[in-house]
Amino acid sequence: MPHQQSRLDLFIDRMVSQRACLDAAIAQTSGMAGPVFELGLGNGRTYHHMILRIQDRPVYVFERAVASHPDSTPPEDRLILGDVRETLPAALDRFGATASLIHADLGGHNREKNDAFARLVSPLIEPLLAEGGLMVSSDRMYFETLAEQPLPEGAVPGRCFIYRR
Ligand SMILES: C[S@@+](CC[C@H](N)C(=O)[O-])C[C@H]1O[C@@H](n2cnc3c(N)ncnc32)[C@H](O)[C@@H]1O
Repeated sequence: MPHQQSRLDLFIDRMVSQRACLDAAIAQTSGMAGPVFELGLGNGRTYHHMILRIQDRPVYVFERAVASHPDSTPPEDRLILGDVRETLPAALDRFGATASLIHADLGGHNREKNDAFARLVSPLIEPLLAEGGLMVSSDRMYFETLAEQPLPEGAVPGRCFIYRR
């Protein structure tokens, strides 16, 4: 009988999937000029990965309370501090539909809460993406106009999602 997936298994799948999806999405949007948005800084691991690989576009971070590794802390002018329920609508006024890539990893340990939050923020994220832009998320999102994309090699289905405008 196959083993039940442990929390360690799930964590590893999420990390491997995040990297595979981010690398694929960065490559696919590399010709685009619009900004990149990182929603949820946390420790800053995915932010650090992104700034090492994205040199042609500014990366803005949305976070309510910065507690990242010093190597992975964005400069003040690239930090959008506050609750995304307020900062995402404000970002639409500031940037319009220009984002080339949006990565969201806003969830915690509770799957139901993560799903409810994904439903809530989906309509706030959707209008920010430029034509051809990609959205990478650790949670399934609920978009009306974005199309779910096939996952790159190495990503684990259900652990990461990619959407395109
Ligand atoms: C799982 S961590 C992100 C981990 C990050 N991807 C990394 O690699 O280190 C989630 C982050 O989202 C932030 N967050 C959650 N809900 C938020 C909200 N409503 N507004 C702003 N930030 C939020 C939390 O403060 C936390 O830092």
